[in-house]
Amino acid sequence: MSGVTLNIQPDAEGLAQAAADLISEQVRVNPSLSILVATGNTPMPTYAELARRVTAGTVDFSRVTAVQLDEYLGVSDDDPRSLWGWMRRSFVEPLRIMRTVRLESPAQFAAAVADLGGLDLAILGLGPNGHLGFNEPPSPPGAPTRTLELTPASLESNAVYWGDLAVPAGAITAGMDVILAARQALLLVSGAHKRDILHTALEGPQTPDVPASLLRRTALTVIADGAAWG
Ligand code: PGA
Repeated sequence: MSGVTLNIQPDAEGLAQAAADLISEQVRVNPSLSILVATGNTPMPTYAELARRVTAGTVDFSRVTAVQLDEYLGVSDDDPRSLWGWMRRSFVEPLRIMRTVRLESPAQFAAAVADLGGLDLAILGLGPNGHLGFNEPPSPPGAPTRTLELTPASLESNAVYWGDLAVPAGAITAGMDVILAARQALLLVSGAHKRDILHTALEGPQTPDVPASLLRRTALTVIADGAAWG
């Protein structure tokens, strides 16, 4: 099924509430949901809101499987730049999730996703250049899970996370093929700096040059704040 649902919220807090509502409802309908989990700044308030709901007992993630979207190469688990570490701290542990799929190699990941019967929900942020995970432009719909060198644009946009630490040059990402095969995609977009790329992704041509534009061929919900939609 394809079709885009656009949900504009007044601010980042409204975005977090609306996204937490959607994710919680899906977990209630299917407690064994498999979820591809983005890190990055945008989804953090959503994950914090989900953690509040888990603590309050209004939703239960204990049968959910959390699947890693992307990772740098050559960083250890306790390196502050580890995206696995960020996903564990922000999502897996506060939501009391027992089942995870770590992205270690293309073959291991493909087998694990196949074992799950595919992904139910992909939670995604929008890169400033339209990337999804580390699917940098151009990434065609069939781009597989793979290792890659980061582009100068992504090295620059990722530098904000790590302060004085260098951005690792190599990465591994879940492929466009896996992302586009998810039964539902949820794209979270916050802030005026995302306005141009959000409009390009939703209103421009569907092209590998803007990987996020390819989400329009899936069942996509976009939740954005007013600053990002503008
Ligand atoms: P952000 O990252 O949520 O920190 O803006 C999005 C991305 O680059 O994928």
